[in-house]
Amino acid sequence: MAEKLDILIRGGRILDGTGNPYYKADVGISGGKIALIRRWIDVRCARRVISAKGLVVCPGFFDTHTHDDLYLLFNPRCDEKVLQGVTTVVIGNCGFSVGPICRDRRDLMAGFLRLMGGQYVNEEDLRIESFGDYLGKLQAAEPGINIIPLVGHSTVRLNVMGSEDRAPTEEELRRMRAMVARAMEEGAWGLSTGLIYAPGNYARTEEIVELAREVARFQGIYASHIRNEGSRQLDAIAEAIRIGEEAGVRVHIAHHKIAGRSNWGMSRRTLAMMRNARAKGLEVTCDQYPYRAGSTFLAALLPPAVLAGGDEVFSHKLKDPGFRREVVSMMESDEEEGWENLVKGGGFDGIFISVSQSHPDYVGRSIAEIAEAEGKDPYDVLLDLIAEERRGIIAILFMMDEGDIRRIMRGPFVMVGSDGIPSFGVNKVHPRFAGTFPRVLGRYVRQRKVLTLEEAVRKMTSLPAQTFGVRGKGLLKEGFDADIVVFDPETVIDGATYHEPHLAPEGIPYVLVNGQLAVERGEVVGAASGRVLRR
Ligand code: ZN
Ligand code: CU
Repeated sequence: MAEKLDILIRGGRILDGTGNPYYKADVGISGGKIALIRRWIDVRCARRVISAKGLVVCPGFFDTHTHDDLYLLFNPRCDEKVLQGVTTVVIGNCGFSVGPICRDRRDLMAGFLRLMGGQYVNEEDLRIESFGDYLGKLQAAEPGINIIPLVGHSTVRLNVMGSEDRAPTEEELRRMRAMVARAMEEGAWGLSTGLIYAPGNYARTEEIVELAREVARFQGIYASHIRNEGSRQLDAIAEAIRIGEEAGVRVHIAHHKIAGRSNWGMSRRTLAMMRNARAKGLEVTCDQYPYRAGSTFLAALLPPAVLAGGDEVFSHKLKDPGFRREVVSMMESDEEEGWENLVKGGGFDGIFISVSQSHPDYVGRSIAEIAEAEGKDPYDVLLDLIAEERRGIIAILFMMDEGDIRRIMRGPFVMVGSDGIPSFGVNKVHPRFAGTFPRVLGRYVRQRKVLTLEEAVRKMTSLPAQTFGVRGKGLLKEGFDADIVVFDPETVIDGATYHEPHLAPEGIPYVLVNGQLAVERGEVVGAASGRVLRR
C-alpha cells in the first residue's frame, strides 16, 4: 500500500448502520474517510492501531433533536455528546434558532436567547444578523462534532412580529417567508416549530403552511414540537400531517411522547396515524428520548395567553392577585382549548425544579414538596417563581408511561433524539443531555430487550441520515466519512441520573469524528474535526 492509513480499527464486529447483523472486519481510515473495510488488514499499513476485539464498531450516532445551538459556542468539543458516541447533532429545534437576528430586534432576541443559555456565551459571538452569520460563528469555533442546523419559526416570528399574539399581516408573512427562504439558502436543512412556546404557539396552521412551502422549495424538512402532547395530541399530529400535505414537505415530529397519566396508551393511535400518513405517501418520522420525565421552562406550564406581550409584561401582571386568580382558574378548569396543561398531566408532585438562579435551594425538589415546606399553595410557588425569573426556570416533569416509551421506541420510523438542555457545566439539567444514547443501548437493548442492537444502531445512524438527507454519513462503508463509534455491547450504559446528571456513560472507549479521535479510552481528547453541514 502506497499511503499509510491514519488509523486502523482491528478485529471488531461491524454493525454497518443498515440494521444487518454484524460481520467481523478491520476498518482503515485515511484523510477523514473510511478508506478500507476488509476481513483482514495488515497492521503495518497504519500509523495507529486500535484494537476492537469483542467490541462493536459502527457509524457515529446522530442526535436528531438538540438544543446545543449556544452550547456549541461555549464548549465546541461538546463533551457530553461525543462521550455518548454522538458525532452529529441537529440544532435549531422547537422553533428556537440563534439566527437570524434583525438589528431592530436585538434586545428582544437577547432575552429570547437566554432561554437557551445566551448568558453563557460571548456577546461577540451573538453579534450576527443572518442565519448564515451564525453558522459562520459556529464553524469558526472549530466544533468537535458535526452540526445540522434548522431555522426556528419562533425566531423568525419574533424578528418580524415581536411577541404579538395575532396572525401576521400579508406584509409580515411575506417577510417571514423571505427570512425562511434566505436561511435555507444559507444552509438550513429545514424549519422547526415549537407550538407550545410563545411566540410560536400564536401561529395558526395557515401561517406555518405558508412558511413550510418555502422549505419545500429546497427539499427541506419540517420538524415540529407539535401543539399538544397530551389529551389533544391526535389533533396536533393531524395538524403536522396537514402542514406536510399542504406544503408538500416531509414531516418530523419531535420528542414523541404521551404526556399525562390519563392519556397513557395513546401511542397506539399516534403511531397508527403516522403509519397511515406514510401509507398514503407522506414521509413522516419522529424521534424520542428514553425517559419517563420531560423537561421544559416552567413558564411553558402557563396558558399561552398569559405569556402574550413578552417576559416583562407577564412577570409584572403575575404579581397582581386578581390576574393570578384568573390564571389559576384557567389552569384548574377542564377546558384545555388550544393549550397543553402540563400541571394537570403530571401533578405538582411530578414537577421538579432543575434550574433556578433565585432559588438554588429549590433545585431537585418538587413543587408539591416546596409548597408543603413553606406552607404555601403550590400555584403560588409556581407563579412566584415565574414572576421572579420569567422563563429562566427549568423544570423536570414526570409524565410518561414506560409502555408508551417502549411502543414508540419500536416504531420503525422512530429515531433517537436527546432533546437535552445543555448544563453549561453548572446547571442540574435532565439526564437525557448526557445519557440518552448509552441508555438506549444499555437499558433498552441489553437489559429490557425492547430493541435488537442492530435496530438500535440503525435508529441512531442510517435512519436519521436518510431522514435529514445527509450524504456520506450514517453507514460504515468505504468512501463514507469516518464518523465511528467503538463500544462494548456488554457494558455500555448511561451514567447520568436525575440527581447526578453530569455523570459520563461507560462502555464507549473510542469515538471518531471525520477520521479524528474525539474520545480515546473513554476520555474526551477533543478533535475539533466537526463541521457545520450546510444543506
Ligand atoms: Zn420541544
Ligand atoms: Cu426540543
